[in-house]
Formats: sequence, structure tokens, C-alpha cells
Amino acid sequence: KSIVILISGHGSNMQAIVRAAQAEQWPVRIAAVISNKADAEGLTFAARLGIPTSVVSNKDYPDRAQFDAALQVEIDRYMPDCVVLAGFMRILTAPFVLHYAGRMLNIHPSLLPSFTGLATHRQALAAGVKVHGATVHFVTPDLDHGPIVSQAVVPVFDDDTEATLAARILVEEHKIYPLAVRWFIEGRLRIVDGCVRHHQ
Ligand code: GRF
Repeated sequence: KSIVILISGHGSNMQAIVRAAQAEQWPVRIAAVISNKADAEGLTFAARLGIPTSVVSNKDYPDRAQFDAALQVEIDRYMPDCVVLAGFMRILTAPFVLHYAGRMLNIHPSLLPSFTGLATHRQALAAGVKVHGATVHFVTPDLDHGPIVSQAVVPVFDDDTEATLAARILVEEHKIYPLAVRWFIEGRLRIVDGCVRHHQ
């Protein structure tokens, strides 16, 4: 089995997945780490571990459809069983998403369906919620609305800022995302009526 991970920046979720795959000896190869940003720090981490890396820059394409088409060509060089979006900050077109239907995951820093889109911690603080968290979901053309695989919950404290909340959630992301990817690789996930069932 092989996985391709897409990043745009630090790639801390990618790093957590790579470390878990190695530590737990998953029956899977991290075939490549691909970024839309040439300066994504995660690329250095991956290269240092000998994982193939590449950059497909959205600046090199005139529109979203042509960028996605180029990205798809690059991803499919590795014939992945699973495409993992990890801090990948691009909205993907429907044809691209449908090409990977049922085998593309994303992590979103909120308890979906609450707080879709960007600045989720600012949204959470503004809403005065007392719990917040992260969600791993299958990617569908409907942004941040795919079948939910797993979620992590953290408390929101009165003195929280976006930064303190983000940091608390990131710790949980690094636990639930590797686990969710492993479940997928092990074939434990089924989507029934738009909801994910996890089989032991
Ligand atoms: C995290 O908030 C994650 O939830 C979102 O992107 C942010 C950075 O992730 N997907 P990473 O450190 O680049 O994995």
C-alpha cells in the first residue's frame, strides 16, 4: 500500500503520520510528500528521511482546474491507495476530488460541521463555545463536509487565544490523524449512507 501526503507549510501532521508509520511499522510506504509551496518546511523533513518530495506550485498555472490537473498527474505517478491532505491550504475542484473519491482524507481544525472554512479558532472564540477540536474526514467536493472518520475534543478556557487553542488542538491532531490513516490503510473504514463505520 502507498500513501501520498500533500502539505503547504510546516507539515506537522505529515510528520506525525510519517513517524507513526515508521514506529508502528505500518504495511505501507509513504510514497511522496508533495507541496504547492516550494518553501514548505515539511519538504525538508521528508527529504531528510529519504521520502520523495515534489512541488506543484499553483502560481505556475492559470486557473484552479489546470493546477489540479497537474497535481493529479504528479500524485498518480505514485499510484497511491490513499491521498492525505495535511495542512494543504488549497480548495480542490470537484473533478480532482472525485478522482480520489473514497481514498482522500483531510484534517480540519474544528468539530465539523461547526466552523468550516478558515480561522476556525477565531470562529470558536467568537461563538463562545466551551469545547472545540479537530475532525478527520473523507474529502468530497463539498468543502469541509465529507464523511467524518474521527474527532478530538479539547476544552476552551476563558483566557484562551487563537494561538493557545490552536496549540492545544494540534497536539490532538497529531494523535487522531495517524490513527485514522492507519485505520484506512487496514481497510477498517466503510462509508454507509454518508457516515463512516469503523470495523475492528
Ligand atoms: C492545522 O491547524 C491543521 O488542522 C490544518 O492546517 C494546520 C497546520 O497543519 N489542516 P500542519 O502543521 O501543516 O500539519
